[in-house]
Amino acid sequence: MGFSRTSVLAFFLLLVLVLFVANGQPLVPALFLFGDSVVDVGNNNHIHTIIKANFPPYGRDFTKHEPTGRFCNGKLATDFTAEVIGFTSYPLAYLSGRARGSNLLIGANFASASSGYYDDTANLYDAIPLSRQLEYYREYQNKVVKVAGRSNASSIISDAIYLVSAGSSDFLQNYYINPLLYEHFTLDQFSDILLQSFTNFIQKLYALGARRIGVTTLPPLGCLPTAITVFGLGSNECVERLNRGAVSFNYKLNATSQGLQNNLPGLKLVLFDIYQPLYELVINTTKHGFFEARKACCGTGLLETSILCNRESVGTCANASEYVFWDGFHPSEAANSFLSDSLISSGLSLIF
Ligand SMILES: *[C@@H]1O[C@H](CO)[C@@H](O)[C@H](O)[C@H]1NC(C)=O
Ligand SMILES: *[C@@H]1O[C@H](CO)[C@@H](O)[C@H](O)[C@H]1NC(C)=O
Ligand SMILES: *[C@@H]1O[C@H](CO)[C@@H](O)[C@H](O)[C@H]1NC(C)=O
Ligand SMILES: *[C@@H]1O[C@H](CO)[C@@H](O)[C@H](O)[C@H]1NC(C)=O
Repeated sequence: MGFSRTSVLAFFLLLVLVLFVANGQPLVPALFLFGDSVVDVGNNNHIHTIIKANFPPYGRDFTKHEPTGRFCNGKLATDFTAEVIGFTSYPLAYLSGRARGSNLLIGANFASASSGYYDDTANLYDAIPLSRQLEYYREYQNKVVKVAGRSNASSIISDAIYLVSAGSSDFLQNYYINPLLYEHFTLDQFSDILLQSFTNFIQKLYALGARRIGVTTLPPLGCLPTAITVFGLGSNECVERLNRGAVSFNYKLNATSQGLQNNLPGLKLVLFDIYQPLYELVINTTKHGFFEARKACCGTGLLETSILCNRESVGTCANASEYVFWDGFHPSEAANSFLSDSLISSGLSLIF
């Protein structure tokens, strides 16, 4: 059996990690998450929106079978990533009552399902726009100063990892279904609007003290089960048009990120690529131990997400680990575990 260069590299990185985590301290003091349902751990439970996931069968594969508000049967990719970095518990949803006192010291999660770079997307679904997530983060900073003192707080803020995941809802739940947008803006123009908002967000986060920021790429939007059903014109294949759009956005996101990193002294801004690993699972499904990538586990697997994926949904699969997707838009825990493996090296480049 031969080892590819990437697996040797991955092994080496893992060794470095184990050595650092071995002293019982996480590699970074705190983790902050912003954005959409890819990273939301339950903020939407606490606001008036229909975009929620705090009921069964969501969360059914946690040991306590408890729905948390995560859009998954279990852990998110960022939950796995937090574990690898050495966290023994996850930063809490900021709006949950438990996010206070010493619980704040490991960071907090501000993400809200159906939010995006474009504040109007969040507003359409009564989710929390990025601009308001940033206000909550500012409020968080004041709280953590009270809990830990100014000097401890400032090292938490500057050494933490910040992760931003957005854009999918801007395209799938807004641009592509909203004539007011797609009849007025080309994909390029709309991408530029999103990237302007992304730039703005990063500059503000930097001004508030963030120095290690990761941003996820768009996934292969055209391969998400609901996207195939809605935009696939009856085909069961990934919708090329949507994938091309995602690739083009990701390319610009990369260029914009490098520009920001060059202009903001001391900032590390790294892209976390989720496009390639998720596309790999969809195309080479069985090679990675999965059996189904067209249909999601929940319900018929063709459409159901959020309130449509519930206890009464007919057809929900028995073993979500065989499925790349848990619901019409979101990867299963097993797929998230695979995704997090490929996020580790990006994560490490933020730390070292
Ligand atoms: C700052 O952190 C140190 C080390 O964890 C701790 O001993 C100290 O009490 C903290 N300061 C305040 C004001 O909480
Ligand atoms: C971003 O661009 C650089 C080259 O400019 C490339 O090496 C890197 O792989 C790109 N990242 C992603 C996630 O595409
Ligand atoms: C899928 O597997 C084939 C054969 O091993 C490989 O050539 C290809 O790069 C893999 N990934 C994708 C996304 O096609
Ligand atoms: C579920 O599927 C996974 C992947 O094929 C397999 O490893 C696991 O044993 C299955 N679990 C059960 C309870 O059948």
